[in-house]
Amino acid sequence: MLNIVETIKKIAFEIENAIQTEDLGYSDSENSSGEEQLKLDVKSDLIIEKAFTNVSSVKALVSEEKKGVMEMNPNGEYTLCYDPLDGSSLVDVNLSVGSIFGIYKGELKGENLIASAYIVYGPRVEMVYVERDMKPLLYGGYQETFRELGEITLDEKGKLNGPGGTQQNWSKTHKNFIDRLFQEGYRLRYSGGMVPDLHQILLKGGGLFSYPATTDKPNGKLRQLFEVIPFALIYEQAGGEAINDKGERLLELVPSHPHDTSPCFFGSKYEINALKEAYGRD
Ligand code: AHG
Ligand code: MN
Ligand code: MN
Repeated sequence: MLNIVETIKKIAFEIENAIQTEDLGYSDSENSSGEEQLKLDVKSDLIIEKAFTNVSSVKALVSEEKKGVMEMNPNGEYTLCYDPLDGSSLVDVNLSVGSIFGIYKGELKGENLIASAYIVYGPRVEMVYVERDMKPLLYGGYQETFRELGEITLDEKGKLNGPGGTQQNWSKTHKNFIDRLFQEGYRLRYSGGMVPDLHQILLKGGGLFSYPATTDKPNGKLRQLFEVIPFALIYEQAGGEAINDKGERLLELVPSHPHDTSPCFFGSKYEINALKEAYGRD
């Protein structure tokens, strides 16, 4: 495990360097979710693949930018599921982006996630890492090394609201709920990159990030194995909750395909309880 975490730290500075220096154009290919790949998506994916070729504990890789499962060391224990560059379409407008990693042991499902990490490439590079029995730890990157900055704990109730998805395509229930939060005084904080959006809510004490089912995306947009489930562990271990629109824990999701998506809600206890009430799942 130590090797995997050390490799992720190294990757962070390589991807940061690619963001600073590489061409921002599109490649001529699409990923499994039918999205056009930027050259930076492909490059970041290759950086990660290359870095893990020599890590013997990794059995397989599952990437947002790869079709299926990529077998690595047959004697390895862990499968690493990752989004190499989340929010990559925000690089050309110079907003923050990220990388997300889920480390699974055994079958690829929520309950087998044993650790997760994400990196934020913003004005600074930061990393958050968590395992099942610890609080998430925040690291700051300085001169190609990470320094531990402390544990992350969510308050019972926050102040921020990050509502994803096209509003026109929200359900009435969802719209009423989001309106209610604003009426209670919540402030809008939404950049369109789930890593910086979820990071902000975590570090500012709490609130709600949602990417609901919409009429155009009935299963939501965000992908279970490398976006939704890794962040669910981080939110739960920080003292918050992470559920789908049925009120089920995202950490209990069982994807039937590596690129399956799920409606998702991450927040502190107060907002998630309010959501369950609004959705009739309490
Ligand atoms: P990616 O760049 O890896 O495809 O993911 C982008 C995700 C996520 O970061 C964000 O919350 C969401 O897409 C926003 O999507 P829309 O703007 O399409 O609603
Ligand atoms: Mn993503
Ligand atoms: Mn991505």
